[in-house]
Amino acid sequence: MKKIVLGTIAAAMLATAGLAAEYVMKVSHVVSASTPKGKAADFFEKRVEELSGGKIDVQVFPNSQLYGDGEEMKALVMNNVQLIMPSLSKFTSIAPQMQLFDLPFIFRDKAHLYNVMDGEVGTILKSKINEKKQMMAMDYWDAGFKHFSSSKQPIINPEDAKGLKFRIQSSKVLEAQFKAVGGNPQVLPFSEVYSALQQGVVDATENPLSNFYTKKFHEVQSNLTLSSHGYLGYLVVMNTKFWNSLPKDLQANISQAMKEATELERKESSIEDEKIMEALKTYAKDTNKLEIIELTPEQKQQWQKVMADVYPKFYDVIGEDLIKKAIDTK
Ligand code: LMR
Repeated sequence: MKKIVLGTIAAAMLATAGLAAEYVMKVSHVVSASTPKGKAADFFEKRVEELSGGKIDVQVFPNSQLYGDGEEMKALVMNNVQLIMPSLSKFTSIAPQMQLFDLPFIFRDKAHLYNVMDGEVGTILKSKINEKKQMMAMDYWDAGFKHFSSSKQPIINPEDAKGLKFRIQSSKVLEAQFKAVGGNPQVLPFSEVYSALQQGVVDATENPLSNFYTKKFHEVQSNLTLSSHGYLGYLVVMNTKFWNSLPKDLQANISQAMKEATELERKESSIEDEKIMEALKTYAKDTNKLEIIELTPEQKQQWQKVMADVYPKFYDVIGEDLIKKAIDTK
């Protein structure tokens, strides 16, 4: 036991010092280290280094420090970074079918979502990524359901979105979603959202609570609508060449660390959502600068009704059968 502990400590020290590592694995993401994704990436680093006895040195770069949206995917393909976990919306150009996750109101709740991700639909979508042979799909991670926010009028009914400039991720479904309610969608990298909201380049956006709070968007938005109208999740992908260059035992270490990181990530995500809601309510009460709006079931239904128009537009791109399979998943 003592030997194992000492071995682990020694391995961690060597890995930290970058000594004796036979492989370096760079990991890049765009969110804060304190989000569920950030925490899980750091945990993955620690576990891979422990399990591999320091043979793999994992280096995590949060907050778009190394690569922002748009760059990270290219960097992964070129093996300049070995592991990334972009949101599912950012796979549009590689596997447009992945936009299934962006369809408004497609998931009934978290249980339904996980059954889709971890079931047949999730496997089919991973295979679309693997087909390209540049990257290998590992696990789905979670950020949570998205909510509207704005610095102009509160967004309560679909008419309230009319004319608002919405920041979106690079997904055609998200573009169609905001056009369906008369909004003006604009693609921006995540690292630019705060200043774009601050300077009025865009008025409004949609985020899960963890991203909204950890990037301080509440400072530059005057209202937040708990709409849960869409979903934001991630796919962890590794450069295929890097994976193939690893001996079997190190591959097994990575798979084990990833399994544990995924469990932690999903757990963190559900805990975080509740904690952040409390923090935002306190902020709203103390500062009077943020209005938090809950929608009635009738108001939610109105959103669902207008946004339903988005679905048929993507039957060809995503596959009508696949959409149906996701909806029919228990
Ligand atoms: C966004 O661009 O809003 C998100 O994809 C950021 C992230 O990685 O959660």
